[in-house]
Amino acid sequence: MSASVSARADAVLMSTYRRAPVVFVRGAGSWLYDDAGKAYLDCLCGVSVCSVGHANPRVARAVSEQLGTLVHVSNLFYTLPQVELAERLVALSGLDRVFFANCGATANETAIKLARRWGQQGERRRHGVISLDGSFHGRTLATLAATGQPEKQATFQPLPPGFSQVAPEDLEALAAAIEPTTVAVLLETVQGEGGVRPLGERYLQGVRRLCDERELLLIVDDVQAGTGRCGRWFSWQDLGFVPDIATTAKALGGGLPIGACLARGAVAAAFRPGDHATTFGGGPAVCRGALAVIEEIEQRALLANCAARGAELRAALERVPGVSAVRGRGLLLGAVLERPCAEALVARALELGLVVNNVRPEVVRFAPPLSITVEEVAEAARRFAGALAAVAS
Ligand SMILES: Cc1ncc(COP(=O)(O)O)c(C=O)c1O
Repeated sequence: MSASVSARADAVLMSTYRRAPVVFVRGAGSWLYDDAGKAYLDCLCGVSVCSVGHANPRVARAVSEQLGTLVHVSNLFYTLPQVELAERLVALSGLDRVFFANCGATANETAIKLARRWGQQGERRRHGVISLDGSFHGRTLATLAATGQPEKQATFQPLPPGFSQVAPEDLEALAAAIEPTTVAVLLETVQGEGGVRPLGERYLQGVRRLCDERELLLIVDDVQAGTGRCGRWFSWQDLGFVPDIATTAKALGGGLPIGACLARGAVAAAFRPGDHATTFGGGPAVCRGALAVIEEIEQRALLANCAARGAELRAALERVPGVSAVRGRGLLLGAVLERPCAEALVARALELGLVVNNVRPEVVRFAPPLSITVEEVAEAARRFAGALAAVAS
């Protein structure tokens, strides 16, 4: 890496990330290239973002055409790409209406405000949101308050009130935490940042039943697990339940920033003009990009590819000496290591030309493009095994 880039960055960027010593200059499909021309197999894809591959030609064409036509008019007017994308998301999700935000956190802020808005109707005025230990919902103040990771919250107290967490997989704990002011339960079907921990199908269905019994909304944060990453358009779609509100972001824009909050029925109709807004959300260029992402997933049958390659990657990682288990769904997988050496392993993997990241001291996350090939899966497992063997010795 050119040392001058890291020195320049350190001088002018706020110090929020511990960055790896690589400057990427180009991407193509599952591959990234650094400033010395070295190739890396990208099994992280911008943390579950570039799911249709880097520099995807269909997305690039759609966005550049739109950039040359109409970039921005605000949400005070109608634009066709936004309406078309909302129609597609409604059809793919089975939910009824969409609000476009700019990223995962702002999609979740929208979901929380929508639940509160719905909770203000009728006699009971409800606002409380229960989420899960180990969850991650974003870095804005409200989404941080919903995030079940006290170490991320500690230095930013006081956080907005109205949020509490319970242990996952424990319906009794959840039932006991419900207060008269509670309006919603918020969860991820796979806790990505929390260590790639999938929640059980029976638990999720139990949460849905409890929400119905206690008249609570169920919000699924599908920011990381959605847009095909678990083998379905939305991660809940083969888990036997439907949420009232769902958020998605990351992969939806093919690398451009977008977030979406979807809802059904009366909840979807709770906002009134003036309740919520965004300058950039749902802009024509990013919506054209998202429409191209959806088309790419459909035309190349990438949901089926995700399921097939996901099963292969899981099996290959399970065979690597030093891996005790592999968990997750589709192509959102966590390799659990016998020893807590994930940080050193990820650094070594990078040297060997494999991009992955460590979400826990003993867990390495794989979130490759949904378009990854059979050969690339085998190559990723081979490089990962090499890195683990090197770290172990
Ligand atoms: C489940 C989940 N929710 C929300 C977020 C926040 O998304 P963003 O960084 O786009 O604000 C993330 C980011 O990793 C996430 O994984």
